[in-house]
Amino acid sequence: MIVGVIGAGTMGAGIAQVAAQNGHSVVLVDLNQTVIDNAKSGHAKVLARLVEKGNLSEEQAKVVLSNLYYSTDLNDFRECGLVIEAIVEDLGVKHSVFSKLEAVVNEKCILASNTSSLSIASIGSVLQKPERVVGIHFFNPAPLMPLVEIIPAVQTSLQTIESCKDLISKWKKTGVLCKDTPGFIVNRVARPFYGEALRIYEEGIADFATIDWAMTSLGGFKMGPFTLMDFIGNDVNYAVTESVFSAFYFDPRFKPSLTQKRHREAGFLGRKSGRGYYSYSEGSVMPAANEDAELGKYIFDRILAMLINEAVDAVFMNVANASDVDLAMTKGVNYPKGLLAWADEIGLENVLLTLEDLFVEYGEDRYRPNPLLRRMVRENKTFF
Ligand code: NAI
Repeated sequence: MIVGVIGAGTMGAGIAQVAAQNGHSVVLVDLNQTVIDNAKSGHAKVLARLVEKGNLSEEQAKVVLSNLYYSTDLNDFRECGLVIEAIVEDLGVKHSVFSKLEAVVNEKCILASNTSSLSIASIGSVLQKPERVVGIHFFNPAPLMPLVEIIPAVQTSLQTIESCKDLISKWKKTGVLCKDTPGFIVNRVARPFYGEALRIYEEGIADFATIDWAMTSLGGFKMGPFTLMDFIGNDVNYAVTESVFSAFYFDPRFKPSLTQKRHREAGFLGRKSGRGYYSYSEGSVMPAANEDAELGKYIFDRILAMLINEAVDAVFMNVANASDVDLAMTKGVNYPKGLLAWADEIGLENVLLTLEDLFVEYGEDRYRPNPLLRRMVRENKTFF
């Protein structure tokens, strides 16, 4: 099968590489010739590095490169069995591109979007054959991150879903099936990692370094929330939070933080701007954490309970099953453990207790324990 990818930026170039390494002829299209040239030289460099490291033979790398065809013309998608869209995150532009794609491809071709935040149902609404639309959401960098969220819209046919599941597993990726809901699994369940950390800071309970220390040293997360937000960029991370918040009709669980907004407004975007919550300029020293065991435990328990509550909600609302929620967080964002397995380990009653304490203390809807968590504690059940 020939695979098409439209948009040759960060994600599109990576997805094209994945398909080409898995033996497909790939047509990579972008409006912008410079982006195409960069994608082409980027692929050559990446494959040379893989040969250097001994991951591929020179012969194999040659085959992969010869699988890749670059173009600025949508008509080159004619023979594709699947086209994955990875263009700018703008619904209007996606609508226009999907209409144009459908006019070019054959009637069996699956049309997928790599969108992080838009509704697949809406993207598919412009198609004559909307049963062929699906979300195939990769994580950055696509060649390295094992997770792919597969998102059927209400219009998607079973056949489309099955073909995508087969393909993603042939590409040796971990596919998880998830409902067409804001943030899908990962970008929904992960919100409290940032939001609750910011809230703890805003209340003056601890500073950035201390919260990061608690989550890395007690929680085993690879990066603390503030280090991670600085890595992602406060503009990007804030935009995702705001979009999830409004898409959930302003549920206070997802409320964005003024601290993050101010950092974004000030241009403190993180690593890429030289300053975020921390300074990254030459010679700057990272602030020391207050390594108080009791404080650390409070921070870790609170953020983890909020993350678990969100993971439970994804199961409660049938966004995905418990195994897929755990796979998504371990394979998509490298969490040290699946949140639901972690909840079993801590004891669901203890997670519920932490949430109830917060709910009583603050009286805010944000902290309401999920009904499924309450039910499972009552019935003495575990997730696995
Ligand atoms: P990017 O800005 O790096 O690349 C987008 C490319 O699309 C640009 O090269 C642009 O020239 C091209 N483009 C725009 N309109 C076009 C059109 N009408 N026809 C052909 N090409 C067009 O963006 P990035 O980061 O690769 O994101 C692409 C999509 O993937 C977005 O929907 C984003 O939400 C999603 N995504 C991004 C992730 C990330 O970490 N960057 C992770 C997962 C999904």
